Amino acid sequence: MDLDKLAVVQAQFLCGYPVKKINLESLFQNISWESQQIFLKETIGHSLIISKPISYAYLVAFLREAIQVLEQKTQEVHDDFYTEFLRVQQLASVDQTQVYKHYRVALNNAIVSVRETTRLITDGTTGLRTWPASLALCEWFTHNLSKFSGKTVIELGAGIGMAGIVLAQIANNCKILLTDFHERVLNFLIENIKENSLGSNNNSLQAIPFDWTSEEDLEKIRRDHTPDIVYAADVVYDSEIFPALCRVLKNFIKMNNCDVILSCTVRNEITFQDFISKLDDEDLSISLEKFYEANNFYWDNSCEIKIFSVRLKN
Ligand SMILES: C[S@@+](CC[C@H](N)C(=O)[O-])C[C@H]1O[C@@H](n2cnc3c(N)ncnc32)[C@H](O)[C@@H]1O
Repeated sequence: MDLDKLAVVQAQFLCGYPVKKINLESLFQNISWESQQIFLKETIGHSLIISKPISYAYLVAFLREAIQVLEQKTQEVHDDFYTEFLRVQQLASVDQTQVYKHYRVALNNAIVSVRETTRLITDGTTGLRTWPASLALCEWFTHNLSKFSGKTVIELGAGIGMAGIVLAQIANNCKILLTDFHERVLNFLIENIKENSLGSNNNSLQAIPFDWTSEEDLEKIRRDHTPDIVYAADVVYDSEIFPALCRVLKNFIKMNNCDVILSCTVRNEITFQDFISKLDDEDLSISLEKFYEANNFYWDNSCEIKIFSVRLKN
C-alpha cells in the first residue's frame, strides 16, 4: 500500500473532508487483505476517534464510500469493513450536537483538535464551527510564516479558534490574541485553546472578548495591545456589520500601521463588492494575496476564497 497516499486519506478523514472528494480509488488499486486491515486501523481505528470522537454520521458515510469503492476494486473485501460499518451505524443513532475535527499540521508534525457543533448555525451564530476560509488562511500562514515572527497578532471573529491555534503551532515568538463577541463562541474558543499545545516556538495564545460595534471594546483592546498584524477569516457575509468592521480595521491600521489580512469566501459577489465599497468609504483599499491551493490543509473548495490585505489609500 502507498503509505504517502494513506497519510493523505487519513488526514482528510480526521478533519471530516467530504468523502466524495477523498481519492480512495487509487489507494485501493490492487489492495491486499493485510493492507485493508491497515487502512481500517489508520482511519476508523485511529486512537483519536475514541478519545475525541468525530461525527458518527461522517464515519458511516466514510465507510459506506470505502466499501463501495473496494467492491469495485477487489474481489475480496475484508470482513472487518462490514463489521465496522454495522458498529458505526449503531453509534450514529445517537444525536451528536458537538464533535471533534482533527487537523494534521504537517509543518511540525502535530495535530490540532477542535471541538465544534454539527450545525451551520447554532444559538444564532455561525461561529461554532470551522469555515473553509480559515483553512485556506492556515495554508497561507504556512507560506508566510516569516511575517509573524516576533509579532503581536489579533484575530477578529476567531470563532472556535482553528486558524489561531494553528498559527500558535507554527509561528515563532508570536503573541496571538483571538477575539470574538459571542459568549458561547468564546467558551468554545477558550476550551479549544486549552486542549491544544502551543508548539515549541515560544508563542502565546489568548482569547479575549471584542465586539466590533463596541467603542468601549475597541478602546480597551487599543489600550492593552498594539498589533502588528490583524487578520480575520470569513467575516464578510453580513452587510449590516460592514461599517463597524471597516471602522475597526481602519483604527488598527492608523494606530500602528499594522498589516491587515482577510480571508473571504465569496458566496455572493454583490455582498463582497458592498464590503469593498464600505472599505472605500473609510479610505481603505485591498490588494490580493497569492492564493495557495489545499496542500497542508484540506477544505471544501466549492466556493471561491479570496485572501487579501487591506491598506490605507495613498
Ligand atoms: C462565519 S464565522 C467565522 C469563524 C472563523 N473565523 C472561521 O472562519 O472559522 C464569523 C465569526 O464572526 C464573529 N462576529 C460576527 N459579528 C461580530 C462582531 N460584531 N464582533 C465580533 N465578532 C463578530 C462571529 O461570532 C463568528 O465567530
